[in-house]
Amino acid sequence: MLYLGIDLGTSSVKLLLTDEKGSILKTAVREYPLIFPRDGWSEQHPSDWWEGTLSALDEITKGIDRSLIRGIGVAGQMHGLVILDENDEVIRPAILWNDGRTEKEVDYLNNTVGRDVLSECTANIAFAGFTAPKILWLKNNEPENFRRIKKIMLPKDYINYRLTGVHATDYSDASGMLLLDVKNRCWSEKMLDICDITKDMMPRLFESSDIIGKVKDELCLPSAEVVAGAGDNAAAAIGTGTLGNGRCNISLGTSGTVFISSDSFSVDSFNSLHSFCHADGKYHLMGCMLSAASCNKWFSEEILRENDFSLLQKDITDSMLGNNNIYFLPYLMGERSPINDTDARGVFIGLSLDTKREDTVLAVLEGVSFAIRDSFEVAKSLGLDIKESCLVGGGAKSPLWRKILANILGIRLNILKTEQGPGLGAVILALAGTGEYSSVNEAASAIAEISESIIPDKELTALYEEKYQKYRQIYPALKDVFRNLR
Ligand code: XUL
Repeated sequence: MLYLGIDLGTSSVKLLLTDEKGSILKTAVREYPLIFPRDGWSEQHPSDWWEGTLSALDEITKGIDRSLIRGIGVAGQMHGLVILDENDEVIRPAILWNDGRTEKEVDYLNNTVGRDVLSECTANIAFAGFTAPKILWLKNNEPENFRRIKKIMLPKDYINYRLTGVHATDYSDASGMLLLDVKNRCWSEKMLDICDITKDMMPRLFESSDIIGKVKDELCLPSAEVVAGAGDNAAAAIGTGTLGNGRCNISLGTSGTVFISSDSFSVDSFNSLHSFCHADGKYHLMGCMLSAASCNKWFSEEILRENDFSLLQKDITDSMLGNNNIYFLPYLMGERSPINDTDARGVFIGLSLDTKREDTVLAVLEGVSFAIRDSFEVAKSLGLDIKESCLVGGGAKSPLWRKILANILGIRLNILKTEQGPGLGAVILALAGTGEYSSVNEAASAIAEISESIIPDKELTALYEEKYQKYRQIYPALKDVFRNLR
């Protein structure tokens, strides 16, 4: 039998077809646009996601008996608000995870409702990208659209809905809505009241590997059942075997995340890290920066007009590492973890007449890595002793970036043999859900395989330690400037 993993990302939807052992047979990708209606706003059309999925499905199943597809798992960009009216029509474009328009609503939630209440109800505080502030924004700014809401869903749940007709979500993705009581794995009635919405608008909750339904007849996948799936970070973690206590997965994708799995529920006292359900039925902590590999993509493609990242990186010599006096703050879309600041923006600092192109390219790679370290520091302050991590995402393809990050964090970074990101995690959930493996844990252990490790170098780690201490001074010095620049 065959299995399909769908990764609904921010720049594209990626499908992968595997056999029952999780070995990848074929992949297909469809890109779609990201819409920025205003500075710091970010939207997409759910119809683009669905059309991309269908078109990639046609490509991936060409020459294949579609009745052999037994299980489908979908992983998706988290937090996005998708709303449907009484005719099941999408009411407005989805507001995405990296959208910063909800500053007022975040302030209301954190400071009027209160962080303590939010943390008590949901194990988290409000961040601009989370779903609940977006619902309040809609109520305050588009009351007409707000009144038409019949169903609320997350991006991957829209795909599942189109596949099966079932209005469902899973606990890992639902955690990022700020509407879920993460500890008790149920909707928080109090949060639904605060957002002026009702339980019947919310999807039914499932564990990630639970089957939510069969694929609709018209899609011609007669044997396929669909599992609830997961948020992309939880799915990526499953795909790297990041389950159990104290394991770590770092993703250098459009966003940058530090994901720490845990067997038990916990919350950090400042709520700097998100406390979410994991896709294996357990929990995890996560720091998320909004622009990671996207900083490199933006700087290379938009500013330097070069699509070949390795060409730009080849001028960076070993002796430049740890000796760069140019610093870059990667806050192109504001920032979530750990500073929670929608006004922050990208900055180069330390430029001089002898600055070369490669110094700035290096500064971008280093700036993103320093920002990952910021979340890592919060994890350390909680007593978590992380000595190694898997590394995934587009940025992980660069050997130079891997080396920089390993030395800035001072830990061993493990690279997977087949790095297919969240899509592979989604397949693993489908394999476990349809009984091919007895559990998510068993499937992940059998499928995730490390191919290479990057070991930090003592001298370089020491050089980067000094640089990091300097980097840390930049944001606090500019915080008020960012506000005044608005
Ligand atoms: C996680 C987050 C991002 C998106 C990217 O909290 O907002 O990682 O899931 O797709």
